Amino acid sequence: MKLVFATNNAHKLREVQQTVGDRFEIVSLRECGITEDIPENEPTLEGNALVKARYIYSRTGLSCFADDTGLEVDALGGEPGVRSARYATDGHDDEANKRLLLERMLGVENRNAQFRTAMALIIDGKEHLFEGVVRGIILTCERGEGGFGYDPLFAPEGYDLSFSEMSAEDKNAISHRGRAVRQLAEFLNK
Ligand code: IMP
Repeated sequence: MKLVFATNNAHKLREVQQTVGDRFEIVSLRECGITEDIPENEPTLEGNALVKARYIYSRTGLSCFADDTGLEVDALGGEPGVRSARYATDGHDDEANKRLLLERMLGVENRNAQFRTAMALIIDGKEHLFEGVVRGIILTCERGEGGFGYDPLFAPEGYDLSFSEMSAEDKNAISHRGRAVRQLAEFLNK
């Protein structure tokens, strides 16, 4: 059975295909003919994930899923949250986003935070939501070279390493997205 994933990122596609297994063929947006940007203007991660999945379903009639991720910092009332990609600017400027986060966290003692992924699935016309969370802390300066986004500033609970200092496999085993994808896979293979 074909399942469209709301991404063109080859790394994400491969990772999800491996987790879901070969009962499902995971197809990118491009492969199902969607080349335009899908709007993501909802006030919540769940809202954005659902809007993206509904858009694909209405365009293709195929079963599909979409995710949205945010970094939620306790001392900032859950910010940057749904605005994680556009925290500092309208574009996806990772460097500016990290700088702004460090600025807002200057002198803040409570460094607790979490990454949260909302995943929306539409299958046989029905909607399902899944969630993956990883708790951790915001570091006071960047550590490590790997990963992307806020990875150098986030150390997951129980580890003395930032996400940037972990291998992709180790990060995936505990990460928000890894957890959400495994829930999706469990549901699909039930
Ligand atoms: P998206 O929903 O996967 O596009 O993620 C939204 C934003 O959250 C990205 O632009 C990144 O800044 C941030 N982000 C998402 N996942 C991660 C992660 O695993 N590590 C670090 N930053 C992330």
